[in-house]
Amino acid sequence: MNHLLDIDGLTEQGVLKLCEQAKRWKGGEAPPTMKEPVFVGQLFFEPSTRTRVSFEAAAKRLGYQVLTLHEGTSSTQKGESLADTVKTFEAIGMNIAIMRHSTTRYWEEFLDDASFSLVNGGDGSGAHPTQSLLDVWTMHEEFGAWKDLRVAIIGDIAHNRAARSNAKLLQKLGATMTFSAPDWGWDEGFLQYGERIELHETVSSADVVYCLRNQWERVEDPTRYQAETRTFCLTEALANKMQPHAIVMHPAPINRGVEIESSMVDSERSRIFQQMKNGVFMRMAILHELMTNQSKQVEDAPMSV
Ligand code: CP
Repeated sequence: MNHLLDIDGLTEQGVLKLCEQAKRWKGGEAPPTMKEPVFVGQLFFEPSTRTRVSFEAAAKRLGYQVLTLHEGTSSTQKGESLADTVKTFEAIGMNIAIMRHSTTRYWEEFLDDASFSLVNGGDGSGAHPTQSLLDVWTMHEEFGAWKDLRVAIIGDIAHNRAARSNAKLLQKLGATMTFSAPDWGWDEGFLQYGERIELHETVSSADVVYCLRNQWERVEDPTRYQAETRTFCLTEALANKMQPHAIVMHPAPINRGVEIESSMVDSERSRIFQQMKNGVFMRMAILHELMTNQSKQVEDAPMSV
């Protein structure tokens, strides 16, 4: 793996390898020492809390240095292009870039001759592969397998990159996908991954109910849909129809009381904060895998801290 842009290039074996490494980091395994300093660039052109901060925590746990672009005070404000901003980080010594941008496949304008590895932290409504990897690991921790797991994704599916990456990856891993979405938040392209079914049916038959925020920032004239804002909310009454063993997940950020009732966020079924915790260890595994593939940098000896 030289870059992680989408989940298209991932195999089940590759995903399992990352999950196993993430589990070892979570269990306290010491990271290897590095022969040379490793610099991770954080270039976020859209808001983020979890992805940015958990990558920073992951990098620091591995002994890497973090270089952060503060977009509002950077030279992008003076007209510097995305490609030149990235080339600047490359010239300064960045080994791995973590990037988020509102343009789908934003990397196409600069990645061809890059000397660094790129991790896509989200491109518009396109892909969010690291979210998907931490999600499938959280499901595997819970159920021990993906094959035949029933995963229901509910809410604004069309505009959500985590939904798109999860649908692709979970289908590849053998899970059965169902979707329930309002018309304004539905994309027929998801039918290649699973069925679109009625909300109560999808929730009551699932092992995992995966809720999504309404991404109004990607909808033209969202005021047209105000009346439908809470139609796909996972209320306690709806959650009572879930199977006893079923769990609730959400990529977050959460709008409590909109797509999920506040009590469900903190309920025993919820794995939402577990997803965030797992995100650090999965992102350590991703960074480590990329540096291993850049060779030369990693030593076998455990870090003496
Ligand atoms: N899930 C996720 O990507 O969260 P952030 O937008 O806070 O990074």
